[in-house]
Formats: sequence, structure tokens, C-alpha cells
Amino acid sequence: MSEQVRDAQPPDLPALVALERTLFGAEAWDEASLRAELDGPGRRLLVVEDGPRVAAYASTMVLGDVADLLRIGVDPARQGRGLGGALLAAVVDHARAAGAHRLLLEVAATNAAALALYGRAGLVEVDRRRGYYRDGVDALVLGLALA
Ligand SMILES: CC(C)(COP(=O)(O)OP(=O)(O)OC[C@H]1O[C@@H](n2cnc3c(N)ncnc32)[C@H](O)[C@@H]1OP(=O)(O)O)[C@@H](O)C(=O)NCCC(=O)NCCS
Repeated sequence: MSEQVRDAQPPDLPALVALERTLFGAEAWDEASLRAELDGPGRRLLVVEDGPRVAAYASTMVLGDVADLLRIGVDPARQGRGLGGALLAAVVDHARAAGAHRLLLEVAATNAAALALYGRAGLVEVDRRRGYYRDGVDALVLGLALA
């Protein structure tokens, strides 16, 4: 694919705040939370540009031998074109390079698009957290062995 994955920079923050609101509504991270993803312990915030705009982003935390995918989002107008897959591949590469042996994430059991993306990347269910989300939906904990 032609889109380039790169590290987020402070000037990307307004676009990321807007994407968060669009994608996650009441659960959206604010600018301070996103800024902490730029330089927090073990954090890496990746973005994909589409023309001059940020079209997708993913936030990862690597602590010890575990990598957590904290967020991944694609502009609704650009979903279904492989951006999520490209970002997830970059997250896996980063996690491996940072020494992680496992990638873990939580996803709503009803999030069909995300489950399709993760399943294609080889992530498998390792646990289920019942009623984890505010609306009572279960969270699936998915994992991928990186070693
Ligand atoms: C999940 C998300 C990141 C996927 O990004 P994307 O760029 O559309 O992903 P891709 O184009 O690489 O692949 C999407 C896959 O989901 C499938 N898909 C898309 N919409 C779907 C839907 N409503 N139901 C089922 N599958 C769906 C696509 O067919 C594709 O699978 P395939 O390649 O096997 O056909 C994106 O949908 C998104 O931002 N969702 C809102 C935020 C979110 O839920 N993030 C994850 C939880 S933190």
C-alpha cells in the first residue's frame, strides 16, 4: 500500500482529537490524554496520512515483554481500504522490535469490523470480560504471540 505509517507529532493532535470524537464519542480521549500517548512510558503513537490529513492512528504501550494496543482508529470515510491492517502490521513490527513477546488488546464483542481486522492478523481470544463496557457489552481480550 502507498500510505506511509509514521510517528505522530504534536501538530497532529487537533486532527487526532477530532478523530477520537468521531470514532469514540463519550469515550473519546481528550488532547491531554493523546499528548501523553506521544511521550508516556513505553508509548508509541503511529499515524497514517491520506493527503494532508491524518486518516488513521494507533496507540501502543510496551512494558516489559507485553505490548498493549490501546487504540486504533480509521476515519470513517477511509475505512475498509486496508489502513487499519497497515497500522496493525506496523504495531506488530514495533512491538516485536521493542522486545515484546505478546500483543494484547481489548475489543467489544460486538465490534465486527475490529474483530475482522484482528482475526486476519492472527489475534485469538484469550479471555472475556463480561459487561466490561458501559453499555454492558462484553470485552474480548485478544492476544498474539510475537516470539
Ligand atoms: C476497526 C477499524 C480500525 C478497521 O479499520 P479499516 O481501515 O476499516 O480496516 P481494514 O480496511 O484494514 O480491514 C477491515 C476489515 O474489517 C471488515 N469490515 C469492515 N467493516 C465491517 C463491518 N461492519 N462488519 C464486519 N466486517 C467489517 C473489512 O471487510 C475488513 O476485513 P477483510 O479484509 O477480511 O475483508 C475501523 O473500522 C475503525 O476505526 N473502527 C472504529 C474504531 C474502533 O472500533 N477501533 C477498534 C477498537 S479500539
